[in-house]
Amino acid sequence: MFLVKLGGSVITVKSRYRYYRPKAVQEIIRELKRKGEPFALVHGGGSFGHIKAKEYGIPGEITEKRKVGYSVIHRDMVDLNQRIVNSLIDSGINGVGMPPSVFNGNLEKISQSMIDHMEAGLSPISFGDVYINSQESRFEIVSGDDLMLSLAEKIRPSEVYFLTDVDGIYDKNPKKHRDAVLLKELSDSATYEHVGTDVTGGMLKKANTVKDIAKLGATVYVLNGNVPSRLNEAGSKDFIGTVVK
Ligand code: ADP
Ligand code: IPE
Repeated sequence: MFLVKLGGSVITVKSRYRYYRPKAVQEIIRELKRKGEPFALVHGGGSFGHIKAKEYGIPGEITEKRKVGYSVIHRDMVDLNQRIVNSLIDSGINGVGMPPSVFNGNLEKISQSMIDHMEAGLSPISFGDVYINSQESRFEIVSGDDLMLSLAEKIRPSEVYFLTDVDGIYDKNPKKHRDAVLLKELSDSATYEHVGTDVTGGMLKKANTVKDIAKLGATVYVLNGNVPSRLNEAGSKDFIGTVVK
């Protein structure tokens, strides 16, 4: 049993609104299937989430403008989710999309429902989503990385994979610094620059989430989703990516 986060930077082009990358997703699914074990998936928003979240100022208090944004972002995220579910079903995997907003972003409830689906032999796939915080009259966003931590707490998987558009976690942003060094293990001196429209915390938050998941006893691999064959090299000495134990 393993858990995988498909980062928005892999499954979409983050700078182009609603630009989906179907081939990247198909190739990842092929490699996941090769592992031959049950799994649960979480995906990010990429350009289906972050661009409109920024434009409409979500998270934030409930206003007329944000109501439009909430509806648009949720529609776009469900659309992205269903495209991935279609790919799973086409590959013979019983994928089931699970929108966090229907649980008001309650991570415990989402995780439990995903477990119930896995126990029934299905492959649940949830995602970063908008949700309503009714006590404070706010619209919030749950990130795929938050969901991964909550799921790992409940499922206690032995292996967890985070796929992004770079080879792993570097000592500094590899897209800005040509001399950035890929960290085979996480180091506290690494720096993380915020990218573009990301409203949920980017690589810094991911690095902290990865450490928290590893503390639960899982081995966490951060790797390049554009080279998905590396999913099946995890654990070997030739693996390219960051490993956190
Ligand atoms: P995703 O949304 O796919 O989960 P993010 O876009 O949040 O992933 O994070 C990946 C991006 O983080 C990379 O494209 C890279 O530009 C940026 N980044 C910033 N600092 C680092 C770092 N120290 N190591 C790796 N990537 C970094
Ligand atoms: C973001 O989820 C969801 C929305 C903005 C609605 P993530 O934070 O997990 O997305 P990525 O992986 O960074 O794109």
